[in-house]
Amino acid sequence: MDYKKYIADIEGFPKEGILFRDITPLMADGKAFHTACDEMIAFAKEVKACVIVGPESRGFIFGCPVAYQLGIGFVPVRKPGKLPRKTVSVSYDLEYGSNELHVHADGITKGQRVLIIDDLLATGGTVRATMDIVKQLGGEVVGCAFLIELKDLNGRAAIGAQTPVKTLISYE
Ligand code: PRP
Ligand code: ADE
Repeated sequence: MDYKKYIADIEGFPKEGILFRDITPLMADGKAFHTACDEMIAFAKEVKACVIVGPESRGFIFGCPVAYQLGIGFVPVRKPGKLPRKTVSVSYDLEYGSNELHVHADGITKGQRVLIIDDLLATGGTVRATMDIVKQLGGEVVGCAFLIELKDLNGRAAIGAQTPVKTLISYE
């Protein structure tokens, strides 16, 4: 499917110099959204994922349907002050800022095969922080899947060559 026609390009959002790739037209199109989720589901099967981990907030949009379809769990990765119980956290940098991510300390069990799903890979700061939290909790990151990859920001370097990565759209 030509997913790119469902992505809106917004110059200067949320800051000058950023070309924002807006996924909401794809989400609003039932066929495009369904097909994209199906590709992620096929990848989750390939890597034999036992749980999906998704960063707030756009990671929830693709991670939850995949977990639902496979009948496996979804673990949210959240920004500070959102999770009510004990968490493990890591700080990270974004293309347009910095933040801290948290996961409930009992969210992942030792040896669990984790697939990280998010809408977009930019610098890789978010996924790297998520991978580090999963490792701290004893999980094994068996793959990472994204709707979009911004290749010029080289997020794959942050993930590392050993971890399988699936992306459905890439921009040079
Ligand atoms: C966006 C996007 C990814 C992340 C990618 O999330 O959804 O999670 O940035 O950038 P990176 O590879 O440079 O880390 P954002 O933090 O803007 O939050 P949102 O999903 O709540 O909009
Ligand atoms: N997250 C980080 N960089 C982004 C971009 N250019 N467009 C949409 N989401 C993003």
